[in-house]
Amino acid sequence: MAFLSILSTILLATASFSQGRQVFHVPSTIQNGASIAQFEYSSQLDAPKLSTVNGSVFDWWYFDVVSADPDNLATAVVILYTTSHDAFPFLDPFDGALPAQIVVTFPNGTLVSTQLLADSATIIAEDDYSSGEWDGTGIKWSGQSSGYTVTIDSPIAGVKGSITFQPVAPAHLPCGSVQAGETLEVAPHLGWSNAIPDSKASVNLVINGTSLAFEGIGYHDKNWIDEPFFAHVASWYWGHAHVGPYSLVWGLIDLTGKEEFGSAYVAQDGKIITAACAADSISVRSTRAGYHISFDLGSEKGRMEADVHILGNLAGLDDDPVYGRFIANVSARIASPSGVSGEEFQGMALCEQFKLTN
Ligand SMILES: *[C@@H]1O[C@H](CO)[C@@H](O)[C@H](O)[C@H]1NC(C)=O
Ligand SMILES: *[C@@H]1O[C@H](CO)[C@@H](O)[C@H](O)[C@H]1NC(C)=O
Ligand SMILES: *[C@@H]1O[C@H](CO)[C@@H](O)[C@H](O)[C@H]1NC(C)=O
Ligand SMILES: *[C@@H]1O[C@H](CO)[C@@H](O)[C@H](O)[C@H]1NC(C)=O
Repeated sequence: MAFLSILSTILLATASFSQGRQVFHVPSTIQNGASIAQFEYSSQLDAPKLSTVNGSVFDWWYFDVVSADPDNLATAVVILYTTSHDAFPFLDPFDGALPAQIVVTFPNGTLVSTQLLADSATIIAEDDYSSGEWDGTGIKWSGQSSGYTVTIDSPIAGVKGSITFQPVAPAHLPCGSVQAGETLEVAPHLGWSNAIPDSKASVNLVINGTSLAFEGIGYHDKNWIDEPFFAHVASWYWGHAHVGPYSLVWGLIDLTGKEEFGSAYVAQDGKIITAACAADSISVRSTRAGYHISFDLGSEKGRMEADVHILGNLAGLDDDPVYGRFIANVSARIASPSGVSGEEFQGMALCEQFKLTN
């Protein structure tokens, strides 16, 4: 069955996902029948990856910005989903298929969040960029090679303004750079594409009369699944950081304690040093302050060693052992194969952790 579904994905990819511009309309109702997910890249990195949204699949577009100033705990996260509540039960209960979330923290770390529901959604994929609108929520985004802008005008949520992203590092896929034939599966049945691993971002929002304006480190990716994925996840670590000249993205997923799937991305001054998914490409170890993350940069360069120091939990669930989304500061340096440590750089990160079964 797995082979058959891979085969049909390839057929779909060549038959209907062509370069150029394509418009997708997603209705607000959950559809019946099998949904076909795309798990191999051919074009249109940021397009919808499911043929339909049935009750056991999801696809989402995720945007975040973390303040570049370690004394400022401001963050902004906007997520637009095509999912049922059953397929992604971590959201507040909703009907239909098109929830959206806005989660921000103010400079003092105070969190506010709101969940909205769209009547319909439109996504336009153009080359490897996308634009989208969740009708009825006041949230839309627009992307091109020069960058992305998320615009919010939601009287219901009391949120108005925009977030801009100017990329500073190239897009990548779970196991490498963006190239036809590359896999989109970061773990079995979990798709991932990262259109903006790192960017200069500007947040200008007004939230129920209070301004939230800051410059930071912005990120945009998307994930999708074609079967209830979280049932198999024991733990999940993910995050991104900008540290000196480096852009870092890490992912480590442990499936019911048996199998680990990692993905490591390091770019320096806008050029990819590593984008890999071998099991030993990345390791994440808990420390008293947060995590120590080690990225394999290959036999010549050695490893990128990063210490992630958690400054606050953005999920507003301080006592929830299951899920955390954190703002963190990071120090990172390259350790050469002979053990010589390079210059240490400091920066900021936004990261996430699920701990489910054990
Ligand atoms: C949705 O599609 C997936 C993938 O084709 C399939 O495994 C699943 O059974 C479908 N779910 C429903 C509720 O039809
Ligand atoms: C934090 O900042 C927000 C926005 O300015 C404000 O509404 C809130 O009262 C502040 N909280 C504390 C604990 O100072
Ligand atoms: C703004 O205020 C309204 C009315 O009190 C509330 O429903 C909404 O959740 C608030 N928005 C945010 C982002 O906190
Ligand atoms: C991170 O923040 C902590 C707490 O404020 C501080 O002790 C540490 O030096 C900071 N580290 C970096 C790399 O900025």
